Amino acid sequence: MNRIFSGVQPTGNLHLGNYLGAIRNWVALQKDYECIFCIVDLHALTLPQDPDALRRHTREVAAAYIASGIDEKRTIIFNQSMVGAHAELAWLLSCLTPIGWLNRMTQFKEKAGKERDMAGLGLYAYPVLMAADILLYKATHVPVGEDQKQHLELSRDIAGAFNRHYGRDTFPLPEPQIFAASARVMSLRDGRRKMSKSDASDYSRINLSDDPELIALKIRRAKTDPERLPESPEGLEGRPEAENLIGIYSALAGISPEEGLKRFAGENFSVLKEALSELAIAQVGRVGGQMRRLLAEPGHIDGVLKEGAQRAAAIAFPILEDVKEICGLLRL
Ligand code: TYM
Repeated sequence: MNRIFSGVQPTGNLHLGNYLGAIRNWVALQKDYECIFCIVDLHALTLPQDPDALRRHTREVAAAYIASGIDEKRTIIFNQSMVGAHAELAWLLSCLTPIGWLNRMTQFKEKAGKERDMAGLGLYAYPVLMAADILLYKATHVPVGEDQKQHLELSRDIAGAFNRHYGRDTFPLPEPQIFAASARVMSLRDGRRKMSKSDASDYSRINLSDDPELIALKIRRAKTDPERLPESPEGLEGRPEAENLIGIYSALAGISPEEGLKRFAGENFSVLKEALSELAIAQVGRVGGQMRRLLAEPGHIDGVLKEGAQRAAAIAFPILEDVKEICGLLRL
């Protein structure tokens, strides 16, 4: 059986990278897979959060899922902390994870910065919790953006370590699903950095909550280079801003980047920016408007999350029980 698990951290500022790199791709997958989409609130706690904001952002991510077309009847939507099995399995897996594997994680190095000794243990151990999220459901496929690739490789290694240690095929090795066209949406201010929730410059990303004027302004201000757009894909080499804007346009238009470039070959950036603005306003506007309508009725979202947590728990706890038994923990 094929089962998908993926998640987004409720850390605020959901942006076009989260939408194009992850959430939008999930919508089509619901047809062919049993899907579980989580709002990973325990992950958010790896960096300081304001408690009220965390609750608000959790509902916002749930609203973004539903507004983007995730069908809450067919698909399970829930927040991680409602199913205690995630944290329990994370502990069991952490006992089998060599520290050397965690030392390789580039995202920890980026997030911990220079004060590495002061970083929380949770931030360091975060990839083990992510592995637990996936393995708790024996998920076979995990659709994510490019930046999660290393964490997913670690999840596969941890699954393999467990299977080998106990001599059984308990966990399938989860396959990453990275959709090339939108796997890496870059900052609008610097084509070499990814679009990120934590970037201090508001002009670097388009948020799903932005209104049309703000989206248009951010795109007008997006960094470009002095040349016209090239005639062929090779001409995009060494021009990360041009490549990024063509990539975003193409992802929004649902065409390949080559096709997207053909539409603007030899043009000024202003022509591309105008077309991009129109598409972004239409799509982000639709999702953002629907999110606002959903958030005006938090009772509905809470109901979806509660039911989702019950459905998730019904899958997760029997698997956790089985794992505990395998580990030799006395079950009475
Ligand atoms: P998070 O919350 O940082 O991002 C959520 C999803 O958005 C994708 N993404 C991007 N895609 C393209 N371009 C970008 N600029 C961009 N920025 C973010 C991410 O790749 C991700 O798919 N560790 C995960 C959450 C997580 C998870 C899991 C994911 C926890 N447990 C289990 C899958 C399976 C994270 O921090 O994502």
